[in-house]
Amino acid sequence: MNHFLDIHKTDPADLRAIIDTAKAIKDSRNGRPKAMADDETPLAGRMVALIFEKPSTRTRVSFDVGVRQMGGQTMVLSGNDMQLGHGETIADTARVLSRFVDMIMIRTFDEAVLTEMAEFATVPVINGLTDRTHPCQIMADILTFEEHRGPIKGKKVVWCGDGNNVCSSFLHAAGRFGFDLTFTGPVQLDPEMEFVGHARNEGATITIERDPFKAVEGADLVVADTWVSMHDAQSAKERRHNMLRPYQVNEKLMEAAGKDALFMHCLPAHRGEEVTSEVMDGPQSVIWDEAENRLHAQKAIMRWCLGG
Ligand code: CP
Ligand code: NVA
Repeated sequence: MNHFLDIHKTDPADLRAIIDTAKAIKDSRNGRPKAMADDETPLAGRMVALIFEKPSTRTRVSFDVGVRQMGGQTMVLSGNDMQLGHGETIADTARVLSRFVDMIMIRTFDEAVLTEMAEFATVPVINGLTDRTHPCQIMADILTFEEHRGPIKGKKVVWCGDGNNVCSSFLHAAGRFGFDLTFTGPVQLDPEMEFVGHARNEGATITIERDPFKAVEGADLVVADTWVSMHDAQSAKERRHNMLRPYQVNEKLMEAAGKDALFMHCLPAHRGEEVTSEVMDGPQSVIWDEAENRLHAQKAIMRWCLGG
């Protein structure tokens, strides 16, 4: 069994195998009704707990549907309704859940909750987003990029805005999949330097460029995310918006990137803030494929977690 905690903690060959499996799973379902099981059902007879301490649409629905297509059953739990939210330790929760379910996916705040869950669970644990990273999202993003443009190795990805949790997982992926990442955003919201250093040590070119128009030159992919993440204080909203406004992805910026650059956003998006509707709904945007690919990527991740 394997935990899927982060991209930089997962072997590069395993990451590549997950993407290839995801592609094969997607192809094999072509045209099949969504509620119909896959030909192969590796989760038959298995129960998966989906724990959410933060809101979710895509992660919740894609994991739930994915487990069912693989023949398994799910239990969606809200952190607040569990004893976990009322003082029971993570370790005890992990031990108990492991007696009932075959896999745990958790979306939480502090990364330590995830790592402690993995330490004490005797079943695989999957990171469904923490304040620090969002690896399942970036696996779907790699799948999406490669479907449209072929191998991501050596390509240029430009992250616009806040150096947040999703940006961190992009940095991890740059190291593991061998693409270049340019961050453009205000200095106050730079990505975690530990992760920048990690990606550079793995041979990726990581560039920090304050001018968004220079940053996107020659981009193969431009990525945006919300300016205020779920873990950010609402009181910081105005300050963050003021700092981030110059980094909005709009038609002018996409023009500077060139017509072959793709646009991605993990969603939910705030139309007119980090990205305009013209870009989201425009010809360079692959955001709906990106959202769909959460399903296929996570099915491949779950298979890998169970040793498949
Ligand atoms: N992208 C993503 O994780 O979306 P949700 O917050 O809706 O799960
Ligand atoms: N950075 C965002 C991603 C949401 C999927 C957040 O953490 O709220």
